[in-house]
Amino acid sequence: MLKLENVTRRFGGYAAVNNVTITVPKGQMVGVIGRSGAGKSTLLRMLNRLIDPSSGSVRFDQTEITELRGAALRNWQRDCAMIFQQFNLVPRLNVLTNVLLGRLNYRSTLLNLTGSFSKEERAMAISALERLGIAQTALQSAGTLSGGQQQRVAIARALMQQPKMILADEPIASLDPLNAKVVMDSLHNINQEEGITVITNLHTLDTARHYCERVIGMAAGEVVFDGPAENLTSEAVRMIYGAAAEELSEDITSTSIKDKASTPSVGSLQHAV
Ligand SMILES: Nc1ncnc2c1ncn2[C@@H]1O[C@H](COP(=O)(O)OP(=O)(O)O)[C@@H](O)[C@H]1O
Ligand SMILES: [Mg+2]
Repeated sequence: MLKLENVTRRFGGYAAVNNVTITVPKGQMVGVIGRSGAGKSTLLRMLNRLIDPSSGSVRFDQTEITELRGAALRNWQRDCAMIFQQFNLVPRLNVLTNVLLGRLNYRSTLLNLTGSFSKEERAMAISALERLGIAQTALQSAGTLSGGQQQRVAIARALMQQPKMILADEPIASLDPLNAKVVMDSLHNINQEEGITVITNLHTLDTARHYCERVIGMAAGEVVFDGPAENLTSEAVRMIYGAAAEELSEDITSTSIKDKASTPSVGSLQHAV
């Protein structure tokens, strides 16, 4: 169970995340939506301590995450694997090696320096790649893969960390609709089959609605909606995306997993809710 209480992060005088209190039970799939600048990335980054909160508490089970230092902090960062919009692979290294890099936090510095991975680790990496349907790319340089394949490599690398949570920051924002669907399906399967909590920032409402049992809407650093997608009223959508939501339809649907032609406009989304 992850518990945030009154979490705030300021940059200068501006509260990028403002007094957020939420509880995420183990195994939930949560979509965080909101306009660019709403504070989604800052919130996610505070969970694994890429950024420290200015104030507030982040607790996971009995552990106060904001106080972790040294090895305990590294263990926590291993427990919550991050997926980024830009994949963050090492393009010149082959896919298998990129996936094995997910094991680094499990190993001693000395073992890491020798650069050798065990047979078991290699088998684990291959099975992660098989699970994501890209085992045939194992020996290719990661940089030669399509965006959708690269994001699946990043998910395989995350699985190698044997995480308790997967934090994904707009994982499909750089992908075409077909690849976006494959990547979201993969995250959803992992959530369902392994019971790993997934918290993912998403630009688009319809993706969150389709995959996430719980949607958190942010605006100007605050949580303005929290609940199942079916509770999103047109008023809630306006709170999240602003009064001019109608004019933002391209923004909201641009990374839709659906075919462009069949993507409903914000207007019809609002009528559908
Ligand atoms: N390192 C930083 N320094 C200063 N301001 C930042 C920094 N990171 C984010 N911000 C500001 O915090 C706000 C929220 O940003 P962010 O969390 O990236 O939003 P989102 O991911 O929803 O687009 C924005 O106004 C952004 O400019
Ligand atoms: Mg962001």
